[in-house]
Order: sequence, then structure tokens, then C-alpha cells
Amino acid sequence: METTTAVWAVFAAAAAVIYWFVWVMGAAEVKGKRAVDLKMGSITSDKVQDNYKQYWSFFRRPKETAGDSTNVPAFVDTFYNLVTDIYEWGWGQSFHFSPSIPNLSHRDATRIHEERAADLINARPGLKVLDVGCGVGGPMRAIASHSRANITGITINEYQVARARAHNRKAGLDSICDVVCGNFLSMPFSDASFDAAYSIEATCHAPKLQDVYREIYRVLKPGALYVSYEWVTTPLFRADNEEHVEIIHGIERGDALPGLRSHDEIAVIANEIGFEVLEEKDLAKPPAGPWWTRLKMGKIAYWRNHLLVSALTMLRIAPKGVVDVHEMLYETAGHLTRGGETGIFTPMHMILCRKPSTATNVAAADE
Ligand SMILES: *[C@@H]1O[C@H](CO)[C@@H](O)[C@H](O)[C@H]1NC(C)=O
Ligand SMILES: *[C@@H]1O[C@H](CO)[C@@H](O)[C@H](O)[C@H]1NC(C)=O
Repeated sequence: METTTAVWAVFAAAAAVIYWFVWVMGAAEVKGKRAVDLKMGSITSDKVQDNYKQYWSFFRRPKETAGDSTNVPAFVDTFYNLVTDIYEWGWGQSFHFSPSIPNLSHRDATRIHEERAADLINARPGLKVLDVGCGVGGPMRAIASHSRANITGITINEYQVARARAHNRKAGLDSICDVVCGNFLSMPFSDASFDAAYSIEATCHAPKLQDVYREIYRVLKPGALYVSYEWVTTPLFRADNEEHVEIIHGIERGDALPGLRSHDEIAVIANEIGFEVLEEKDLAKPPAGPWWTRLKMGKIAYWRNHLLVSALTMLRIAPKGVVDVHEMLYETAGHLTRGGETGIFTPMHMILCRKPSTATNVAAADE
């Protein structure tokens, strides 16, 4: 009799712990995504671990992959299949950084950073604006609400298209926001069809920045403005410093980057394509508050999430491989934090360009 009672007590306690992890902790983190709903994009659950392994072996040596860059878009797509739900679960709908602002929530600081891009390109009602690499559309919705411009986003990941469209509908913005699936290196839009464009921490996935800038230039009308927040190494980066190199490699392999560019390459490339460069600035520089503090996850929070995803995987609620992806993102967060603290890396090197009003549709450099 007593043994039966003890067994039941243990069983009830275990059930309570699982319930707490899965439903309570799972739901607490969320803005629209619960831990129990973690999927891996359009990858079927039995393929997640394989996809993760392929991704990892491809990006482990990021610089060397630059030689064979034709596979990069496919692996960027895989990356976003793997991370989209975890990002939405732990971060929100805007997959980018922003300077922290005293007394403001991350959410508000993020929105202000997005509205800044909208203001720089003078987004306003009736304008047709392109969002290059739109993710699940957090920035798009903030910018559409702020400016009432019509926005078309493009992302290579089909799962993100579905998420973005669902969020747009929910926010009541689907009449002015649309999303298409495509590769930003060859966009399904006609020449001179947009009044303005922006890209927020997205063009870093392009093996050659020239290729994506040339496409943006092509689809913009003459006189149109384009702003980009670029991921770059700053003047403080030293290629002969081992720690610096390790930090940058860590950022590259954990974020599907074919190789980070240096701050001084961006304007040169924009000019080469034919853009006029109007302004260039590292938005992370003081007095801007640090963007990386948000990444600092305590050991307790890390272990809680680790146990949570492990439990979900064991219960087969989440696919095998989620634990690996969670681990990878945690390590990447460490590299990004070090990049921020040392000041050798910025995810918000802002460049504002204009396609000359006299421009013909062909980009200047075709090489
Ligand atoms: C932030 O809030 C604190 C306490 O409410 C206040 O003393 C401080 O002046 C605020 N800082 C800013 C920049 O608004
Ligand atoms: C912008 O969206 C509105 C609402 O759907 C539509 O009526 C209008 O024609 C669109 N304008 C442009 C320039 O696409």
C-alpha cells in the first residue's frame, strides 16, 4: 500500500515538473510562440538533425566556403528553417539588434531602431518600399505602422513567408504588407519598381555584397533611397589577434555568414554599383547603449531552456536536433557578446544611399 502511494507521489511530482517546464515556462517566454510549438521550419522532424549536421559542416570554416558560394543561399535557407521558431520563441518577431535605451523595453528599443530606418528613406503613405531579407516581418510591421507605406518583403525561407503573412494578418497590416519567397541575389521584381528600400541585418548573408546591392539598385526607381544596417568588423578588429579572429569566426558559423566584411568595404561597394552614398555611421557607437546586453543569458536561464528543449525532445514534442540548435545559438550569443564588448564587431553599420535620379536601369559595374 505504502509503496503504491510513494510511486503515485513520485509520478505526480514528475508530471507537475513536466507540466511546469512545458506549459508554464514554455509560455512565459513567448510572444506568439510557445516552446511546445517549436518546429524546424519546413524540415520534417526526422530530418532536422541531418540538416543541422550539414549546416554545421558547411559553415564551420566560413572563409573557405567563399570559394564555392553557390551553396550559400541553400544553407541560409536551412539555417532559417532551424532557427526561426527558436528566435521567435526567445527573441521576438524582429531578428536583429538595436542599441539599448535606458528605461525602455527591448521591444520599444527595437521599434525605434526600425523606425529610424523608415525615417532615413523618408517612408510615407503610398510609397512602394522593398524590405530585403524580411524574416518573419517584425521590422516590416513596425515600419508600415509608423509610415503607412506599402511594403513588400522578400525572404529565401518559405516557412518565414508563412509566418510573416500570418503575423501581418493578425496585425491588420496585410493590405499594405506583402511577402514573397525568393533569393535576394536575383529578385522576382521588374526594374525600377520600388520607391525606396531597406535591409536590416540581412545582406550579411550574401557571399558578395556587390551581388545584392546590384539587385537592389536594379529594382529601385531613379532617385530612390536605400538604407542598410550592415554586419561588419570595425576599425578595432586586428586580423593578427587570435581572440579577435576566433570571435569573428564564431559569429560567422553561428549565423550563416559566408564571411564578415570590413567597415571600410561597404561604401566602396555601394559606389562601385552606382549608388551615391549620402551617409554612413556605426549606430552602435556611444552614446548608443550597448546592443549586446540583451544576449547575456544567465547560466540559470540557459540551463532552464536547455532542460526544457531536452525534455520536449525526449517527449517527441520537439524534433531531435533542437537541442543542438539551441546549443549553437547559445555559443553564438557568447561570440556576439564578446564582439560587442571588445568593439571589434557591429551589427548596425548604417549606410544610406541614393540611386542617382539620372540613372539608367543598368548598374554601373557588371563585374
Ligand atoms: C529612468 O528611470 C529612473 C527611475 O525611474 C529615473 O531616475 C531616470 O531619470 C530615468 N532615465 C531616463 C533616461 O529617462
Ligand atoms: C498600397 O496599398 C493600398 C491598400 O492595399 C492600395 O490601395 C494602394 O494601391 C497601394 N499603393 C501602392 C503604390 O502599391
